[in-house]
Amino acid sequence: MSLAASDRSKQPDNRTTMELGKVLPKTAEVHDGHLFIGGVDMVELAKQQGTALYVFDQADLEDRMRTFRSAFESRYPNSGIIFASKAFQNKEMVRLLAQEGLYMDSSGGGELACALACGYDPKNVFLHGNNKTERELREAIEAGVGRIIIDSRIELARISRIAGELGVVQPIYMRITPGVEADTHDYIITGSEDSKFGFTIGMDDFAFRCVADVLAAPHVELKGFHCHIGSQIFDLSSFREAAFIMVEFMARVNREYGLALDELDLGGGLGIAYKAEDNPPSIDDFAEMTTTAVRDACAQFGLPLPRLYVEPGRSLVANPGVTLYTIGIMKTLPDIRKYVAIDGGMSDNIRTALYGASYEPVIANKADQPRTEIITLCGKHCESGDVVVVDMPIQTPEVGDIVCVFCTGAYCYTMSSTYNGQPRPAIVFVKDGEARVVTRRETYEDLMARDL
Ligand SMILES: Cc1ncc(COP(=O)(O)O)c(C=O)c1O
Repeated sequence: MSLAASDRSKQPDNRTTMELGKVLPKTAEVHDGHLFIGGVDMVELAKQQGTALYVFDQADLEDRMRTFRSAFESRYPNSGIIFASKAFQNKEMVRLLAQEGLYMDSSGGGELACALACGYDPKNVFLHGNNKTERELREAIEAGVGRIIIDSRIELARISRIAGELGVVQPIYMRITPGVEADTHDYIITGSEDSKFGFTIGMDDFAFRCVADVLAAPHVELKGFHCHIGSQIFDLSSFREAAFIMVEFMARVNREYGLALDELDLGGGLGIAYKAEDNPPSIDDFAEMTTTAVRDACAQFGLPLPRLYVEPGRSLVANPGVTLYTIGIMKTLPDIRKYVAIDGGMSDNIRTALYGASYEPVIANKADQPRTEIITLCGKHCESGDVVVVDMPIQTPEVGDIVCVFCTGAYCYTMSSTYNGQPRPAIVFVKDGEARVVTRRETYEDLMARDL
């Protein structure tokens, strides 16, 4: 595979690092040409810890968690913020969630195990997944997770059986596919026949009919409904539409099944700025839209206000995270492109190869200079599609420079691999001038540890 032809329309831009706006972690600064985050010099940190290296601005993380909580609680006191661990998880992150009073969405056995290992309260865990295994379900029910979001009737039977064997009644939500599909640019109503997730609202009233099965299952208690309409959403009207459909569904279930369900989880999906020109809605805008939509719909359908949850992932962790690399090789193909090869790539950031993600790169040791060259930042892996940044401006690159790629806090570490025997990077949290390694770099021994 080769890359699409270089985008000749791309112009170098004269912006320096601090002009990249919403892309930057909140504490980003430039001193004497060096990029600082959390009061720590990224060039020095790269030298001390080696590259590739994930770095998180802890103050920014904490600030976003508090902003999410206050944005919702000030408008809608009976609400909770559930962090989607799939976006980023390690033990320090779990501790931060507990410290800041956030709930946790766990979508796999390992995520739950990490939470439990940190002493995180299982009652605050919401377990997701379209095909949770027998083992995952048993471990979760045994641990006493707060809610399991069920995805199918097959799973319903499985959960009810396991809960019965363990002598408990498991609180659950049904995941509803509300027929609102949203993506970065647009949203369309599809009727949602084509989704592997959840109970479809369309298709002959499938979700509504399945409520009867849920009520007949002996060892589960239906507490409410969940939906998740997509990710990296800029158009808030998609959330408004989903909230309306969900409240309407809830009101109908309450009326026709004689239930008083009072919990609603609207999922995640708020978009963020990956590029300097991106202008996503703020957390406050998102809270205003969703809480107003739920209030309006409840008033229209005569439903008391439910407890409301949202499940942000990316919008909490993407911008506070960056990845540092060292330039090892450069290759200029006249009239094609300039490749700048770094000591990481698709093993620490698969998003560009996977779905054409795009990022803003800077050279951390030239952070005060304008970005006058257009380059493609390629990785060190044996795939032509191993790129992190395609045709983006950067300062004049030289071998040995430290590159910082912004907005890599979400879905990079959690999707990382050891392709080509590449040990996964360490993770460093920086705050108030201090750098703490919170996940050590993987070693060659780690790579072989499971081999018999
Ligand atoms: C069920 C569920 N909740 C929350 C999220 C988090 O989404 P985002 O990171 O876009 O906020 C996801 C992401 O795929 C999801 O599947």
